[in-house]
Amino acid sequence: MIHMAEIKLMEREIEAAVRVLRSGELRQGKECERFEAEFAEKVGSRYAVTCANGTAALHLSYMTILEPGDEVLVPSFTFFATCSMVVMAQGKPVFCDIDPETFLIDLKDAEKKITSKTRAIVPVHLFGNPCDIDRIVTFAKKHNLKIVWDAAQAHGATYKGKDVGAFDELVCYSFYPSKNMFVGEGGMICTNDTQLYEKLRYMRTHGQTGKYYHTMWGLNYRMTDVEAAIGKEQLKRLDEMLSVRRRNAEFLNKRLAAIPGIRPQKVTSYGEHAWHQYSVIVNKEEFGCSRDALSKQLGEKGIVTAVHYPKGVHQQPVFKEQDEKISLPNTEYAAENILSVPVHHGLSQSDIERIVEAIHEVRQEF
Ligand SMILES: Cc1ncc(COP(=O)(O)O)c(C=O)c1O
Repeated sequence: MIHMAEIKLMEREIEAAVRVLRSGELRQGKECERFEAEFAEKVGSRYAVTCANGTAALHLSYMTILEPGDEVLVPSFTFFATCSMVVMAQGKPVFCDIDPETFLIDLKDAEKKITSKTRAIVPVHLFGNPCDIDRIVTFAKKHNLKIVWDAAQAHGATYKGKDVGAFDELVCYSFYPSKNMFVGEGGMICTNDTQLYEKLRYMRTHGQTGKYYHTMWGLNYRMTDVEAAIGKEQLKRLDEMLSVRRRNAEFLNKRLAAIPGIRPQKVTSYGEHAWHQYSVIVNKEEFGCSRDALSKQLGEKGIVTAVHYPKGVHQQPVFKEQDEKISLPNTEYAAENILSVPVHHGLSQSDIERIVEAIHEVRQEF
C-alpha cells in the first residue's frame, strides 16, 4: 500500500521525547524555548512562539489584531480553521475565491470585498505553494490591512529565496502528523514585531502578565516540552525531508502534466514549493473518468489518495447559514475535481513511478 503520509518518528526523536519524560519537565519550559529559538533562526524571523497546534496559532494571531466585528479576507479553499478561528476571535471571515491554477487567494476577488470594516487578510500557502508575497504586501499596504500568513502546510517554502516564515506580520505553522514536520499536536507563530510577540506569549497563558494577574484575555494554548523536543529533532532533518518531497514532486510534475485531463497545481513565480500535498485537477471529459472514480481505482491498485478539500469553507453547513448567497466558482470547481496523491519523504522512486503508472492504467481502463 502506498499511503498519503510518512509519520514514523526516528529513533533520536523518540529518545529526545523519553529524555524529557525522564526529566519530569512535562509542561512548557526550556525545550520549548530552545525550539522557538531554533525555529526562528531556521526561517529567519525575529521571534517564534510555540503553541498547542496550528488552530491555536491562528486563534492567538487573530486575537492580537482583531476588534469585535472586524472583517478578515480569507480564501474559502483551505482547511476550516483558517476561517473558523476568525469567528472565535470575534471577527467575520469574508470568503474570497482562488486562482484556478495556483489554488491561492485571488486578490482581484478580495479587492471587490473590501469594506470600511476590513482589517486583515489571511493568505494561505496552500499545500506548501507560497503566495505571491510582494503582491499581497502591496495590496495590504494599499488597503491598510494586517497580514496573518497561514503557513500550516508550508514549512520550508520560500519566496524570492526567503523563507515564508520571515515575513511580517504573523506567520502560523502546524506540526500535526502528515505535515512536513510534525510533533503530534503543536503549532508555532513567527513574527518580527516585539509587541505582537509579547502579547502572543501572554495570551498563550491566560493573558497572565504576572503570577495570577491577568491583564488581557487568553487561553491555555501551551505546547509541552515533550513535543518541543521532538520538534527540535525534526527541524534538523526538515531539509532532507523537503528535498525528497521536491524530488518526488518534480518527477510527478513531468510525468503527470503529460496525461490529458490531469492538471497539477501551478507553482507561484519566484516561489519554491514545500509540497506538503501534491494535488491535481482531474478534468473528467479529458481524462475519461471523474476524480472520485480515479481515486477509487487507485485505491484498488494499492495507492491511497485524498481530497483536500471536498468543499469550500463557505459551503460548510456552519457557514452556509450565514452566507447563503456566496458563489465562488473556482473554489467550487476545485472542490469537485481536485485529488491529492502521495508525495511524502517516505516514498521510494519505485513508489513514485508506480503512482504515475497506475494513473495511466486507470485512463486506459476507461
Ligand atoms: C491550512 C491549515 N490551517 C490550519 C491548520 C490547523 O492546524 P492544526 O491541525 O495543527 O490545528 C491546518 C492543519 O490541518 C491547515 O492545513
